[in-house]
Amino acid sequence: MPVAKQSEIAPAEGRLGVLLVGLGAVSTTFIAGVEAIKKGVAQPIGSLTQMGTVRLGKRTDNRVPLIKDFVPLAQLKDMVFGAWDIFPDSAYDAALNAGVLEKELLGQLKVPLRKIKPMKAVFDQTYVKRLSGTNVKTGKNKFELAQQLIDEIAEWKRKNKCSRLVMIWAASTEIFLKQHAVHKTLDSFEQAMRDNHKAIAPSMIYAYAALKSGIPFANGAPNLTVDIPALMSLADKNKLAICGKDFKTGQTLMKTIIAPGLKSRMLGLHGWYSTNILGNRDGEVLDDPDSFKTKEESKLSVLEYILQPDVYPELYKDFSHVVRINYYPPRGDNKEGWDNIDIFGWLGYPMQIKIDFLCRDSILAAPIVLDLALFLDLAQRAGMKGVQEWLSFYFKSPQTAPGLYPEHDIFIQLMKLKNTLRHLRGEDLITHLGLEYYD
Ligand SMILES: NC(=O)c1ccc[n+]([C@@H]2O[C@H](COP(=O)([O-])OP(=O)(O)OC[C@H]3O[C@@H](n4cnc5c(N)ncnc54)[C@H](O)[C@@H]3O)[C@@H](O)[C@H]2O)c1
Repeated sequence: MPVAKQSEIAPAEGRLGVLLVGLGAVSTTFIAGVEAIKKGVAQPIGSLTQMGTVRLGKRTDNRVPLIKDFVPLAQLKDMVFGAWDIFPDSAYDAALNAGVLEKELLGQLKVPLRKIKPMKAVFDQTYVKRLSGTNVKTGKNKFELAQQLIDEIAEWKRKNKCSRLVMIWAASTEIFLKQHAVHKTLDSFEQAMRDNHKAIAPSMIYAYAALKSGIPFANGAPNLTVDIPALMSLADKNKLAICGKDFKTGQTLMKTIIAPGLKSRMLGLHGWYSTNILGNRDGEVLDDPDSFKTKEESKLSVLEYILQPDVYPELYKDFSHVVRINYYPPRGDNKEGWDNIDIFGWLGYPMQIKIDFLCRDSILAAPIVLDLALFLDLAQRAGMKGVQEWLSFYFKSPQTAPGLYPEHDIFIQLMKLKNTLRHLRGEDLITHLGLEYYD
């Protein structure tokens, strides 16, 4: 499918500052990884922006550049990192504490990691019950806290000599919140911040501060955060890219790989039972039922959207879907996820699939953070504003325009992402029709 015209994309000049809310397992694994890659002691495995290619033109054309050579992305050497956390530990100490990466590797990265000291967080224990910390801002109300963040961001940008910034929420999962009337417009949202309204969670205060400061924002947790009309309209107004929610790693990644395959062969599903044991701080936070509820909603929606029970009632009506997470400290970040999938085939004969995924959550999440930082910055330089649905590939609950159902099938998501890159560069979109080879 031909595309009219190549988009204007501003060059990636100068330094890109990546501001991370939360300096825990995911953030430190991401930063340490980028520093290790810069040093030449590791490869960016799992990162589409660094290792992925994009096919251009016909299959016979033999044009398959690396994505990073095809679109003008910021280079890793130009990335600098800042963070907020409720604990004052440097990125080095926080990484040691998270226990994801080996001490020996962290030792080699001590100098850059020690320099990253978290700024004081906007935090309220009402929204993350299992945590309390001392590195926290105080202010008269939520609006004033947002102003403090805005000033701090400007100062950080100046000090670190950055030409552009992106912000990514990689902090703990907040309690489940539904959209509230105060989330409807920017005016009602700002008034609610002044009134210290309960419907304004800390994650929304960061997102507001980012959008007010002209910074694109991605949400790596399942909290509502930027998925509310007030902040979506602020992103549109300030021409800023936003995306979320909840990094797609581990069990949900597997679901969005396997479920499209089962559906493609018209195999039915009686039920899908998923359980996890997890021993990191994320697991501890999710042990609180209110935070788990946010996560559960995010994890449960995936199969419904992929399998479309309304379209295929004989195959998928009333399947049972259960998701459990159990906090089990001995495992640390090395989660174990079990899936039991009850499927049925020809003449209704039942079969079972068992998956035992010994995964490492933060190892799977870190390259997502890298790709999101680079693609959000690209989107921004290409003038793409509002919800970036083409980045659905990275999320468990992809944020979409209001009224549009999300696309969860990872293969469709990848095609959408690559076609967006082709579109930006004025290349033909690839439909995989392929009739031209048989003319
Ligand atoms: N690891 C994964 O594979 C994965 C996948 C999807 C989503 N997530 C989400 O990403 C987030 C981070 O995961 P993690 O494993 O790094 O967790 P973590 O507990 O190791 O790190 C989160 C950090 O955020 C800090 N924090 C909490 N509230 C804050 C606030 N208001 N401001 C600043 N800092 C705050 C905590 O002190 C903690 O250090 C979680 O919400 C998690 O659910 C992780």
